[in-house]
Amino acid sequence: MVPVYLKPVRILGIETSADETAAAVVEDGQLLLSNVVASSIEMTARYGGIVPEIAARSHLESITPVIDQALKDSGSKWSDIDAIAVTRGPGLGGSLLIGTLAARSLALAKNKPLYGVNHVQAHIYANFITQASPALAQTYKLPPKSPQFPLLALVVSGGHSQIVHMKSHQHYQLLGKATDDAVGEAFDKVARLLGLPQPGGPSIAQAATSGDPAVFKLPSPTTVNPYDFSFSGLKTAVLRRLQALCGQSYDFPSGQIPALLSKQQVADMAACFQSTAVSILENKLKKAFEEYRPSSVLLAGGVAANQTLRARLSAALPVPPLYPDIKLCTDNAAMIASLAFFRPDSQAEATSLEIDPGLKM
Ligand code: KG4
Ligand code: ZN
Repeated sequence: MVPVYLKPVRILGIETSADETAAAVVEDGQLLLSNVVASSIEMTARYGGIVPEIAARSHLESITPVIDQALKDSGSKWSDIDAIAVTRGPGLGGSLLIGTLAARSLALAKNKPLYGVNHVQAHIYANFITQASPALAQTYKLPPKSPQFPLLALVVSGGHSQIVHMKSHQHYQLLGKATDDAVGEAFDKVARLLGLPQPGGPSIAQAATSGDPAVFKLPSPTTVNPYDFSFSGLKTAVLRRLQALCGQSYDFPSGQIPALLSKQQVADMAACFQSTAVSILENKLKKAFEEYRPSSVLLAGGVAANQTLRARLSAALPVPPLYPDIKLCTDNAAMIASLAFFRPDSQAEATSLEIDPGLKM
């Protein structure tokens, strides 16, 4: 049941679970009024991945200006904000602490209800944002309609690969999850093997545009539960093919591979890896569709930004999958505010809201 209120409800969302410091204001879980994201992505690229201490320090510097900007962009005063929602897990402990401490302090100081939100569930709720203020409408391409229950959601990010079945806002059934590397993590690791910049998803997608996806045959690992995901074998298969291409043996250091590859070999391997990863996701989602016959299929998480994935799923499924604007696929706080609206049972006391870095679905 969606809650019914006498007036529109404005929620300020705050997200700091990884390397993005984000704040957003969303009305009634679906109308985007502002969406501010400050990223330490250049640091992530420079160090080849997230450094937890650097991410936490960067959140500390950005959190106040980001929240101020989100309020300003939305045209809201504090008196217009009805509640605050914040990610409490899963994520990096130090990063989560900065966001939750900011949210707790503001909830106490401004006397607002506080919601502690699960980051992975929230990715699904980016799909419930279907309208934007006139100021944002030009720059956001939002789903044409709200998702209908029952639904299937494919959540694919740097930390998670999941297929979720939902009969209502309160009912989550985790059909399958990553048994080793998440799919986004595999994109990031393969990008590193190819000498492409981080985050690996966009750079592999870009390199793949000039590659041939049929040049290398890569394996699709099987899993005991047909809805679980295993991507570490695929990543290792890429490593072995690259070592062989360079005329080297299994113990050749991966860091020395990129210097020995031609631009075309990089493009071809990027295209083959992307195509194989997308096929794995496509086959599992098709199987789940046949079993659960949902009314809507949603894509969520950073990898949902991948155009090949979107195109292949649109062609493969009987109902066209819904997906958020690219800016709402990767980490953002609008999805946090949306989930808190639709799941008001997640309310927490401002004095006692605790982080949970390993929070489960
Ligand atoms: O959801 P997200 O922003 O953060 C997590 O919660 O993990 O997802 C980040 C992940 C990274 O692994 C990144 O490489 C991947 O999403 N990603 C993509 C694309 N854009 C981002 N993967 C494939 N294709 C893309 N276009
Ligand atoms: Zn995420």
